[in-house]
Amino acid sequence: MSLKKLNPALVKEVQALKEEGRAKAPERVIVDYIPPRGVKGPRYKIRGADQEFIRLNSNSYLSLSHHPELIKAADEATHKFGVGPGAVRFIDGTFHYHVDLEERIARFVGKPAAKIFNSAYTANLAVALTINNKQTYWIGDELNHNCIIRAMRISNVARENKAIYKHNNMEELKQHLENIPAGIQRAVVIFDGIFSMRGDYAPIDRIEKLVAAYQDRLPEGIITVVDDSHGIGAYGATGRGTPEFTGAGPDVIVGTFGKAFGVNGGFIAGSPELIEAVRQKADTYIYTNPLSVADCAAAVKAIDIADSPEGQERLKHLHERIRQFREGLEALRMESIPGPHPVAPLMVRDTAKTHRMVQRLYEKGILVVGLTFPVVPRGDETIRFQINAAHTEADINYALEVLSEFKT
Ligand SMILES: Cc1ncc(COP(=O)(O)O)c(C=O)c1O
Repeated sequence: MSLKKLNPALVKEVQALKEEGRAKAPERVIVDYIPPRGVKGPRYKIRGADQEFIRLNSNSYLSLSHHPELIKAADEATHKFGVGPGAVRFIDGTFHYHVDLEERIARFVGKPAAKIFNSAYTANLAVALTINNKQTYWIGDELNHNCIIRAMRISNVARENKAIYKHNNMEELKQHLENIPAGIQRAVVIFDGIFSMRGDYAPIDRIEKLVAAYQDRLPEGIITVVDDSHGIGAYGATGRGTPEFTGAGPDVIVGTFGKAFGVNGGFIAGSPELIEAVRQKADTYIYTNPLSVADCAAAVKAIDIADSPEGQERLKHLHERIRQFREGLEALRMESIPGPHPVAPLMVRDTAKTHRMVQRLYEKGILVVGLTFPVVPRGDETIRFQINAAHTEADINYALEVLSEFKT
């Protein structure tokens, strides 16, 4: 009965979020999937709406989630071992599919070892839970994903043990490295590879150079950690992500199987010593059931495909569609943040216009995400478009045609 008393307080708190403009809109519910036909890519049906929709807001960059080989792999694993692991990894919840996926993703990103998680979110929490102690200093980009920010809090990083640099500002990063307090034993420079709202990337090569100059100052060194959830599989010449794109080799790579690979789950890749420490220390690994065997089998298949000529073909098609969309925006004289990533933000810089455009796109059967204050600073109102390998030339032309209604 205590919810009776709590409920009104919660309603008030949600109301406050609404008034601050931070409340989430009701969720749309997808009720049907229509496979590609002719010049059209896949379409989706949404509860309560008659028309079909193109998803221009999906992270499934290589568009593998309907791939028959992934479905077959998930199906076979499920038929053999069932739908759930029955226990955490330590209590005989480890199946060969979990280990296979760890080996496969480590090989894909060029690291000796990896651990898998239910999500990249919990993988990032695990990084901090494993590495942090009272003599650890953390330096991060101001636009880091929520899970990195939350990781600092959940692992009790003290205020004086962390520093934030302005987005991609190497001068500020250098200052923070210079000012690491006395008594600190180890430091971690942590950043997104691709910044999910903007589609721009961290200059990891430059970050590594800066870190190298300060490496000898700390007894346990300074490591670089990249969360490349939006980069792995979709970015760089062979889809190895932001490290490949920047020619860098960060010490630790965190990523997801839920974006370019089209499945679910996350990982940490690094040295065998780090990965064993994760296994021993990270609550988000220890106290929760692992991914299903179906997820793991499908993810291994997704990586195999990404690593094959078929994957390279998908990547090529993806990059062509991204180029087509970006050139189209330019021809309409619409502002974006340049770059070859599938996240292509349209900078609208006006709240009312952003809402109008998102609504119009919806009416015309196009799903996108509008970002307004306080999610982005005032003046940076944006519509985030995400291209994927299932979009056709005709799909992109159609989206541009709808956008042309807003040409000024
Ligand atoms: C940088 C970054 N890290 C982590 C995540 C979370 O990924 P997952 O869904 O696997 O938890 C996201 C998803 O939006 C992200 O953009």
